[in-house]
Amino acid sequence: MKPTIVQQLEEKRRLARLGGGQDKIDAQHAKGKLTARERIEVLLDPDSFEEYGMFVEHRSHDFGMEKKKIPGDGVVTGHGTINGRLVFVYSQDFTVLGGSLSETNARKICQITDMALKTGAPVIGINDSGGARIQEGVDSLGGYGEIFQRNVIASGVVPQLSLIMGPCAGGAVYSPALTDFTFMVKNTSYMFVTGPEVVKTVTHEDVTQEDLGGAKIHTQKTGVADLAFDSDIDALIQARRLINFLPSSNRSQIPVRDTQDPSDRLELSLNTLIPENPNKPYDMKELIERVIDEGDFFEIQPNFAKNIIVGFGRMEGSTVGIVANQPMNLAGCLDIDASRKAARFIRFCDAFGIPLITFVDVPGFLPGVSQEHGGIIKHGAKLLYAYAEATVPKITVITRKAYGGAYIVMNSKHLRGDLNYAWANAEIAVMGAKGAVEILHRGLTKDEIEKRAAEYSEKFTTPFVAASRGFIDDVIRPQNTRWRLCRALRILANKEEDRPWKKHDNLPL
Ligand code: HXC
Repeated sequence: MKPTIVQQLEEKRRLARLGGGQDKIDAQHAKGKLTARERIEVLLDPDSFEEYGMFVEHRSHDFGMEKKKIPGDGVVTGHGTINGRLVFVYSQDFTVLGGSLSETNARKICQITDMALKTGAPVIGINDSGGARIQEGVDSLGGYGEIFQRNVIASGVVPQLSLIMGPCAGGAVYSPALTDFTFMVKNTSYMFVTGPEVVKTVTHEDVTQEDLGGAKIHTQKTGVADLAFDSDIDALIQARRLINFLPSSNRSQIPVRDTQDPSDRLELSLNTLIPENPNKPYDMKELIERVIDEGDFFEIQPNFAKNIIVGFGRMEGSTVGIVANQPMNLAGCLDIDASRKAARFIRFCDAFGIPLITFVDVPGFLPGVSQEHGGIIKHGAKLLYAYAEATVPKITVITRKAYGGAYIVMNSKHLRGDLNYAWANAEIAVMGAKGAVEILHRGLTKDEIEKRAAEYSEKFTTPFVAASRGFIDDVIRPQNTRWRLCRALRILANKEEDRPWKKHDNLPL
């Protein structure tokens, strides 16, 4: 008997869900990886996923491809929710022709990006692919180009998140690079423009995939990826957590969640956080966690440029972006990597209306030939630029040092900081007292230098000179930091600030 339409539909669905078949699913599991559909299940709220294009097939007839048609064509796309909020997802299916990107499969990815733009919802891309489908040639390359173009159009309109859960090589790496955040999974994912074999042929260097473009390299050395996780499940759960902090689009309100943490909580422990000796480090992360709601901090790039900390927290339930110098690394100096890292984060927050809180303890820019020759001038300018162009509420707390150019860069009043506070022990000066005296009075003995340094210190390395000029709005006690920030954010909630019309800016790239 001929199967009914419903039976045919169910059979088609069953085949599509099977992707490249049970053997290939088993092989995927044997590598410690989930399948494309299992990943979507972990990522989204239960039963919230609605799939599009389940029956899409490629149209290639070359190299016997007409006999290799699998419904869905190697990518699962659709929408669902994360904690009740709409998101669009694509998940490349490695079991189907290695998740390779075909013309039709690219069109599915473009469709959900277009839908996300129209409806104002984030796009999450799960990457696990052998790259351009070799049998399709330029049709596949064109597909990548269409995806890249959409990544750029969507940038700053809806948050875009890339999860790398397998190979991501060749030009394919440029889609994640164009998105806002990239997560990788240790030992099963890699990203490079040319793989180890090409590298070997061209430069005679012997390198493994992991050492060339594994999760460790990209989250510690290059900064291409933001976070590395031990498993697919960890990465997917943390992607849910990140989405919870983000507005759905640049037109949406910032998400607010209930909190039991009182906004007027005094944090007495902050009074003793700063060591007596100004050259001794302390952990800035501790300060952040004690100030934000319930200490719930989502740090971005925790293992790259550790001398600056960036990430999301909440104040009175509402998301804020935090930027803070970390005295535990390079004494909190700004360098090339720190400038790039923080600038990109600030621009994300500004694009999506997320207020910025900056904690400053910075002795200056990092000196050195490698920094100068690496272009610290251009890279440092990125951070300055990002702060100066940002129009979201911008609040600064100087906890200890704010010296020289770095004082200006770290969201000073001069870059339109809205409310700038300093703890009473803060030192705001052109440079540290000893260095200043050595330049002003060359040839002094050690004792004389100490004496003059003490004088200089008393006169200039306090917050009060800056406060007397109006560059600091108030000198506050550390214990009051949380409630002062909560109050400041409340009054800045309706802040409006314009910049003159321009087609776009010319950021120092
Ligand atoms: C078509 C592909 C494919 C591809 C893999 N497959 N990559 N099919 N086009 N690009 C198929 C394989 O033929 C195989 O099919 C199945 O996927 C699984 O692949 P395996 O090689 O068996 O898996 P594994 O050993 O895990 O190796 C994975 C891999 C390897 C490292 C990704 O497949 C590989 O090197 N693929 C080629 C990668 C590449 O050079 N891509 C082009 C990059 S250039 P069967 O039927 O046997 O299961 C590029 C340009 C983009 O992408 C430019 C954008 C601007």
